[in-house]
Amino acid sequence: MVRTQRAEVGSPRKRRAIWNGGTMNPISERYKLPPNTMSPASRMLPALYPKERHYNSIRARLLPLVAATTLLLFAPGLSRAQQLDCLSCHGTPGMQDASGRSISIAADTFHASVHGALGCTACHSDIKAFPHPSHPAPVKCGTCHTQEAAGVAGSVHADGGEHSCLNCHGNPHAIVKVSDPHSPVYPLNVPHTCGACHGNAALAKKHHLKNVYGEYVDSIHGFALTKDGLLVAANCSSCHGTHHILSHTNPRSSTYRTNVPKTCGKCHAGIETEYLAGTHGKAMMAGNIKAPVCTDCHTAHRIMEPQEKAFQEKTVGTCGGCHREKYATYRDTFHAQVSALGYIEVAHCWDCHGPHEVLPASDPRSPVNRANLVRTCSKCHADANPRFVSYQPHADAYDFHSNPALYSIRLFMELLLWSVLGFFALHTILWFMRSQIVRWSSKGPEEKDHE
Ligand code: HEC
Ligand code: HEC
Ligand code: HEC
Ligand code: HEC
Ligand code: HEC
Ligand code: HEC
Ligand code: HEC
Ligand code: HEC
Ligand code: HEC
Ligand code: HEC
Ligand code: HEC
Repeated sequence: MVRTQRAEVGSPRKRRAIWNGGTMNPISERYKLPPNTMSPASRMLPALYPKERHYNSIRARLLPLVAATTLLLFAPGLSRAQQLDCLSCHGTPGMQDASGRSISIAADTFHASVHGALGCTACHSDIKAFPHPSHPAPVKCGTCHTQEAAGVAGSVHADGGEHSCLNCHGNPHAIVKVSDPHSPVYPLNVPHTCGACHGNAALAKKHHLKNVYGEYVDSIHGFALTKDGLLVAANCSSCHGTHHILSHTNPRSSTYRTNVPKTCGKCHAGIETEYLAGTHGKAMMAGNIKAPVCTDCHTAHRIMEPQEKAFQEKTVGTCGGCHREKYATYRDTFHAQVSALGYIEVAHCWDCHGPHEVLPASDPRSPVNRANLVRTCSKCHADANPRFVSYQPHADAYDFHSNPALYSIRLFMELLLWSVLGFFALHTILWFMRSQIVRWSSKGPEEKDHE
């Protein structure tokens, strides 16, 4: 009995007609609703539409709907029913709005989502009556998630469009807990989610940003995360934060130069401690912006395994970029010459100085302090003794005070070189003049006349 009534009067299709002012316009034809999508709540609706009543005025058609809605709205405990009622229309696969945009909601997915129990109007809170406005007010996630909303509003992503939350959280009707592997913000999925924009060359160009996604994916952290599924490896949010993301030029940003050691130190705590105990860390803490931080040596998004040859070769140059004099003297040594041939087992700067707790040579704890040199060199030269370590890794042949013997030898060798070169130059000139004279004087008298 109720079933036939619904089919004739109360079907969503008919209700849709009411919606449009009574005419079955082509748009409403698009909402092809199968008869069994009606929820128990909406099955109540046909009872409010007596079969014999003829809808000849808009008001007559709207009144029952309004009544039904009021009933649903004010009857206690009906929120679940009301939600199901939304789905009696919106639960229909393929449903589209006037502009052809999909407005169908997958009921199962929604119920399984973290907001499933809240009901539709918890978010679409301006829908208080049926028919509802054809374009209800945009949902404000911030009414419930105030902290996250405030974070985004003050971040680099504040201009993320009308629904900035959805840029990262995806379909609003399918949001699951962040600990669920299906969430787009689950740790293993974060790079891909951020990469949708930060791996987009056009966007990078438009905003003058580096295209970092590709770099990250090939880094040690990217590998650990995407290939090994290592949850504790650094994803974008581990370093940048989630909602209150700031530019690295902002002193409050976790990626601002002087905050980098702390950011990496969240996970690499032992290394942070060593770094801070060394000259570099102390200089950085004292505000010396020339002191290196983790990313100067390791980069931010292209972090390699330090044992890799490419890292070792590049990083000598990184140290050398700041310590130019020591770099120049190092390059003259056997270690560097062999290293330049692609042999990486030789001593690089950090094999003697240590990579993180870098100290002045005068510090008794420094591996290059005179007292520790035998131990330091014997890591590789098993038979190193005090005589062996008298060898100077930074011998500067141009500095008389640091090494008079070397200075004198260098001076002697150069004088020798120049005097030999000078002698040969003079010799050649004199030889040339002599040959000209001989040539001229050996010409016969006829030849001379001819000229
Ligand atoms: C009788 C069927 C029906 C019911 C019940 C219904 N809607 Fe709708 N809804 C529509 C139609 C049809 C449209 C498209 C309006 C248009 O395009 O002009 C729409 C549009 C919307 C839109 C806007 C889509 C856009 O393009 O901006 C939202 C949001 C929405 N409905 C939410 C709800 C919620 C929440 C409920 C339950 C409280 C609900 N609807 C109940 C039929 C219904
Ligand atoms: C967690 C909050 C939330 C809940 C709960 C929610 N929605 Fe939405 N809904 C949104 C957001 C955000 C949008 C994007 C457009 C906007 O802001 O109106 C949206 C859009 C829509 C649209 C437009 C089509 C689309 O997908 O963009 C419809 C229709 C809709 N919702 C219906 C429903 C229905 C029906 C329910 C209950 C089954 C529901 N919504 C529950 C947040 C929510
Ligand atoms: C730039 C991407 C991005 C944007 C934009 C974004 N989120 Fe998130 N959100 C994340 C990530 C990543 C996580 C996961 C954090 C974690 O693993 O703890 C998250 C987690 C959450 C959580 C879980 C609790 C928490 O804070 O960890 C809530 C709630 C949340 N977001 C709400 C929002 C709301 C509301 C908005 C819009 C105002 C929004 N998010 C915008 C990336 C984003
Ligand atoms: C009516 C209040 C309300 C609105 C509006 C709302 N949420 Fe929620 N949200 C909640 C509640 C309640 C939870 C469940 C918290 C829980 O289970 O611990 C939740 C959970 C979440 C979670 C998972 C948090 C976690 O700990 O894993 C995310 C992500 C989230 N919401 C994002 C959003 C986004 C994005 C929007 C806007 C489209 C939104 N919410 C709108 C109330 C709301
Ligand atoms: C290990 C920490 C770390 C991880 C992981 C990381 N970043 Fe960064 N990111 C930084 C630091 C530090 C900077 C500051 C600039 C620099 O040192 O290159 C930065 C800079 C940026 C910039 C600005 C680049 C510019 O100068 O134009 C963007 C955009 C960015 N990161 C996005 C991402 C995205 C997206 C991911 C994930 C795919 C990610 N980052 C992963 C640490 C990280
Ligand atoms: C919808 C696209 C989009 C998504 C998704 C997105 N971003 Fe962005 N992001 C941008 C745009 C656009 C800017 C530039 C904003 C500006 O400069 O006004 C930006 C800026 C940034 C910056 C600042 C760059 C700088 O130093 O100036 C960082 C860092 C950043 N995003 C990280 C992330 C991280 C981490 C995620 C994922 C959790 C993410 N973004 C997700 C679009 C996006
Ligand atoms: C969320 C935690 C986390 C953060 C933050 C983080 N890392 Fe890592 N990092 C890891 C993990 C886990 C590994 C191990 C990956 C593997 O071995 O596969 C790793 C590996 C490395 C390695 C290679 C180590 C090796 O022995 O091969 C370097 C170098 C490195 N990280 C540097 C950094 C720097 C620099 C930063 C800051 C800009 C940083 N990390 C931030 C978790 C983190
Ligand atoms: C002055 C350059 C420099 C700075 C600054 C620096 N590192 Fe390193 N780091 C290196 C070098 C060189 C190695 C390789 C050491 C080796 O091969 O024995 C290394 C190795 C590592 C390793 C691999 C583990 C190991 O000991 O082999 C990690 C992880 C790491 N660094 C993280 C960090 C973090 C985190 C910071 C900031 C707190 C940082 N580094 C600062 C140069 C640097
Ligand atoms: C970004 C520039 C920069 C890079 C890269 C750098 N350093 Fe330094 N280093 C400094 C500065 C600045 C100081 C001086 C700090 C002070 O005097 O307070 C310093 C101090 C030192 C000292 C102590 C010297 C002294 O007189 O106190 C040693 C040794 C040293 N660095 C070795 C290295 C090694 C080895 C590397 C590569 C693994 C390296 N540095 C990379 C900038 C750099
Ligand atoms: C074979 C070991 C060894 C290698 C390799 C090496 N050093 Fe040294 N370095 C020393 C010793 C020993 C001293 C102290 C005596 C001296 O100054 O000659 C020193 C001194 C220094 C000092 C001055 C420290 C102070 O307190 O005055 C700096 C800076 C330095 N080295 C940087 C570098 C850089 C940069 C590299 C790589 C390009 C490098 N070193 C390679 C052994 C080495
Ligand atoms: C990381 C390993 C390593 C460390 C540490 C190291 N060396 Fe070497 N050194 C080498 C290698 C490899 C060669 C070239 C192999 C060869 O032919 O002996 C070499 C060659 C030399 C040579 C020239 C060839 C020879 O054996 O006479 C001298 C001199 C030398 N090292 C001195 C030192 C001194 C002094 C120290 C300590 C301050 C030191 N090295 C620390 C690896 C190292």
